[in-house]
Amino acid sequence: MKIVIHGGFFSESSQSDETKLKKQTALKTIIEKGFEFLKTHTALETVVYTTTLLEDCPLFNAGIGSQIQRDGKIRMSASIMDGKSSRFSGVINIENVRNPVLIAEKLLKEEDRVLSGQEAGNYAVSKGFESFSTETPERKNEFNLKLNNSKTGTVGCVALDNKGHLAVATSTGGKGFEIPGRVSDSATVAGNYANLNCAISCTGVGEDIVNGAIASKIVTRVTDGQNIQSAFSKTFHELNEINGFAGAIGIDSKGNIYWEESHPKIVFAAYDGTDLTLFE
Ligand code: GLY
Repeated sequence: MKIVIHGGFFSESSQSDETKLKKQTALKTIIEKGFEFLKTHTALETVVYTTTLLEDCPLFNAGIGSQIQRDGKIRMSASIMDGKSSRFSGVINIENVRNPVLIAEKLLKEEDRVLSGQEAGNYAVSKGFESFSTETPERKNEFNLKLNNSKTGTVGCVALDNKGHLAVATSTGGKGFEIPGRVSDSATVAGNYANLNCAISCTGVGEDIVNGAIASKIVTRVTDGQNIQSAFSKTFHELNEINGFAGAIGIDSKGNIYWEESHPKIVFAAYDGTDLTLFE
């Protein structure tokens, strides 16, 4: 059993040591809770649960603490993929829900599994999810001052359970100040992908992640026989050639974990119940 999580990027130039410590502490607490949950749940259940913890933490740009779009509204996107069944589901630009990943989880059982905008919100209401504002005073203040820390946060989780199954979840508040309705990578197969062999979650600039088809490309390379490290290296080499900005975390079916970033530095943690690796 293994679990890896990320909380976007940490830019040394724009953030303090205090923020870094807060993020490290939050990731440690969340990954320990996630691993405890994994002991008695599937990889799919665990990535959803752990991503709700990340969404609930206002330090990260997903759920509570999401970035605000140009028109003053928050629109969030999230997706999950079950490696065992190769099923993907997600919501794009949903408003006024606390945990977008929970709506993606509900959609996994539907025939129509990716919903967007107002209709995604209507679906959430029909399933009993209450209206919830994820705006925080910090993000509102940044918005009013036209400060954009957008690289501070998409969240994600990959897990391998005790039956050898993989799953992934990714959730984001977007870039901040984007054209209303802009679609991020987080509810696409470029940002979130898993099968029986590998599970990958991305963070960074959505357009770059889509250009590089990062998650689906790494998973395909591992499926075709490359080891996870060389699958990451080749994919990030191609991303660098198009000046992309992204980071990714991954795990394969043998329990090998890997992460890579095009720029310093991805905020991540990995845990197998004994060894905890935390970004520095
Ligand atoms: N990776 C999140 C976004 O670009 O919206």
